[in-house]
Amino acid sequence: MNAPVGHYQYDSVDRAFLQSRIDEFADQVARRIDGSLTEDEFKPLRLMNGLYLQLHAYMLRIAVPYGILDARQMRKLSSIARRYDRDYGHFTTRQNLQFNWIKLEDTPAILRELAEVDMHAIQTSGNCIRNVTSDEFAGAAADELVDPRVHAEILRQWSTLHPEFTFLPRKFKIAISGSPHDRVAARFHDIGILTRPGPNGPLFRIFVGGGMGRTPLVGQEIFDSVREEELLATLEAILRVYNAHGRRDNIYKARIKILVQALGIDAYREAVQAELSQMDLARYRLTPEIVEAIRARFAVPNLHAPDNASEIFLADQKRDRKFARWVQSNTHLHRAPGHIIAVVSIKPAGGIPGDATSEQMSRLADLAEQYSFGELRVTHLQNIVLGHVRQDKLYALWQELEKIDLAAPNHSLIGDIIACPGLDYCSLANSRSIPIAQKLSARFANADLQSEIGKLSINISGCINACGHHHAGNIGLLGVDKRGEEFFQITLGGRADEKAAIGSILGASLPEDEMVDAIARIVDRYLAIRGPGESFLDTLSRLGDAPFKEAAYEIA
Ligand code: HEM
Ligand code: SF4
Repeated sequence: MNAPVGHYQYDSVDRAFLQSRIDEFADQVARRIDGSLTEDEFKPLRLMNGLYLQLHAYMLRIAVPYGILDARQMRKLSSIARRYDRDYGHFTTRQNLQFNWIKLEDTPAILRELAEVDMHAIQTSGNCIRNVTSDEFAGAAADELVDPRVHAEILRQWSTLHPEFTFLPRKFKIAISGSPHDRVAARFHDIGILTRPGPNGPLFRIFVGGGMGRTPLVGQEIFDSVREEELLATLEAILRVYNAHGRRDNIYKARIKILVQALGIDAYREAVQAELSQMDLARYRLTPEIVEAIRARFAVPNLHAPDNASEIFLADQKRDRKFARWVQSNTHLHRAPGHIIAVVSIKPAGGIPGDATSEQMSRLADLAEQYSFGELRVTHLQNIVLGHVRQDKLYALWQELEKIDLAAPNHSLIGDIIACPGLDYCSLANSRSIPIAQKLSARFANADLQSEIGKLSINISGCINACGHHHAGNIGLLGVDKRGEEFFQITLGGRADEKAAIGSILGASLPEDEMVDAIARIVDRYLAIRGPGESFLDTLSRLGDAPFKEAAYEIA
């Protein structure tokens, strides 16, 4: 079989490392089961291996480095869902997959099965550098400046088991994109990196101190043009300053954003420069030889389309209006002629955002093999991308997606809701996020209505930890507890793109059962008052939130 395209190919050293890590964890699990380890002793060990304890069961979080999976990996996830979980998995906003109903005694076997396809759950939790995320259209999008996957892989290797950064003050999230449109929410990460071409190789613009949670902050630019050979040294120095000075006395003040805020970005930059001046830079130099050696471990798809691919594609759209609508919302321009990027929405109207059944996962693996070189991508909006589809084959692919309820034409529209697990799974939750998401997507199920409303993101978190990114939603909903009742606070105006902003609170929180109507009134008001071609955010910035407040609270 040809090497799967899109991601780094493991070698025998990588595989031996995974095996030894699983042996170690299997021993820890056995000691927990026979009682020789207490839960308190076991907790840091299981977290290092992606194993959480949720409200009802263990949850295993599996890394999908920079979001790229091959068909055989997806098939393995499908079979694990069937064999060890309740027949589904949950794709998250940080390009991970979570299994929610795992039995502790099964975890070594699951990890061994994952290792068979070069996957693992290391560093998907705990106070370490988490799965490095990247642009879901990387290496495929027509508007891309630099393919960020090789650098994402270098960052993965640098950060995995980095001896100095295993016990950071708090978790640490890094995202990298090479597109002029920020598709990774770079400014909401501990470190966000945007790369572009320079005269002598790529340059890296670096943001630090972004994040959500109870103190939402937009990351600030620390360096504008770091050269490739200095990238690792610079990141190492940023982390060292954080590791040395980040607060460890208070979990809520421990993220890098709090340190950057306390010092100010200029003082933080100076501290990083001082650190750099005493480092042995040669040890961290990213030479062209190293970059090329990593690049060589990525198989490249052979993109060839017949001359009439685009003609066939246009004719298919003319013939079938439903297909044309899906193309409009769920595709992105590919860099290669005759090809297109397809976004498979895992947000069917009324469904649970990000959940896919084992049957859907295995069909997606088949479709990836048939239509996209066996490659799939997990997006930061909890969808799946088939990155290299021939335009003349897209109609057939779409028909297959329809059959498995994965052809919702709602990418980036109001039905493409992000919701955290909330009170259905999470022990920290105030409210159930999932049912609100289901009711909202059912309310706006009509494809004509969604397309008329245009781009509008709704993000829902069940508590202030903000896993559903509510701060960055055009409309954000935050679950709050009022005397034991589930209420939601509305924020408007958040966005995670290159104009990143934190939403502003609209007013008093509303009871759960009034939320869907309140949001529908906000959307109706927008449709009534928007100017020609104005998006929801445009109207909000022109008129402020007063009209939306009136609508939400039915102020006469
Ligand atoms: C049910 C299990 C989960 C638990 C217990 C949990 C817990 C947390 C906590 C405590 C934080 C805040 C960290 C801080 O501010 O320092 C956090 C942040 C976050 N979580 Fe989760 N989470 C869970 C599931 C998820 C899921 C399923 C997703 C994706 C859909 C997710 C995405 C995120 C993101 C993106 C952040 C970052 C917010 C930031 O920038 O601070 N989490 N999580
Ligand atoms: S936002 Fe709160 S409720 Fe939702 S998953 Fe995160 S910690 Fe749990």
